[in-house]
Amino acid sequence: MSLTNFPVSARASGASPSLPKVTMPALAEMKRQGKPISALTAYDYATARIVDEAGIDLVLVGDSLGMVVLGYENTLPVTVDEMLHHTRAVRRGVSRALVVADMPFGSYHASLPEAVANAARFLKEGGAEAVKIEGPRTELVRALTGAEIPVVGHLGLTPQSVHRMGGYRVQARTAEAVTRLKADARALARAGAGALVLEGIPREAAEAITAELEIPTIGIGAGPGCDGQILVFHDLIGLTFAPAAKFVRRYADMGALIRSAVEQYREDVEHRVFPSDEESYHLPGAARRGMRMELDGDAVVNQDALEEWEEFTH
Ligand code: KIV
Repeated sequence: MSLTNFPVSARASGASPSLPKVTMPALAEMKRQGKPISALTAYDYATARIVDEAGIDLVLVGDSLGMVVLGYENTLPVTVDEMLHHTRAVRRGVSRALVVADMPFGSYHASLPEAVANAARFLKEGGAEAVKIEGPRTELVRALTGAEIPVVGHLGLTPQSVHRMGGYRVQARTAEAVTRLKADARALARAGAGALVLEGIPREAAEAITAELEIPTIGIGAGPGCDGQILVFHDLIGLTFAPAAKFVRRYADMGALIRSAVEQYREDVEHRVFPSDEESYHLPGAARRGMRMELDGDAVVNQDALEEWEEFTH
């Protein structure tokens, strides 16, 4: 099988280890072949492993972890060290998907050398295969790709610009704004971005950009016309606390499932029905006899039982 051939039927089987590793060039090949790119965020080993084994092509360690995992109000407080911590955990759980790390707010805004140095840490220390940056920063994309750091761009609703945008609002709602967005997308692609996330824009704008670019577009709240789709993992499984955005499809209600499991556990502890005898360890017979002698105050004469008991308790 060709390294760049992605048969849909094999992927659907969930047998991800037999599928070829997803690379940055492979994403472009998927676009050429008209194969939709599936992407999800992940922030820890367990979920990254499940997402990878389910055959998802791209795993983004998104700075959305600031909100859905760390409980911040927005993504702005997230630090490079926090992102690296989660990127390393995800890296350990993923073997097939492309691992992309989000560069957090402030880590690529001051100067190009600082941005390149921070981005390099995601590859060197985090094991990411690409970084994602928000906004039309063509100079930065050139500097990063010049340093052999693959880049995913991100245009439209860029959450790190929440204060400039005045909230999380759908972007590019006028013909002029769409023209500007298309120009930004073209410029990022020319500068060397390997893929482009389009967030919170009208589907018509996303379709026009997707048709124009050779690099794949990955949409979130950008309609079905993109080359791929991405969602925040916690939105997909219903593990969030705010009402979901219009574009989110909830495939499970893990919040309710976890709450019910935890409540059941608490009740079992309170009613002393957890743990049961079957869920308990037992002393071997000889040690039990030795213990009984000790409890009875008798001299312990059985040396085997004494040794077994000491081995168990130390
Ligand atoms: O941080 C994130 O999760 C993202 C996705 C929404 C694309 O940037």
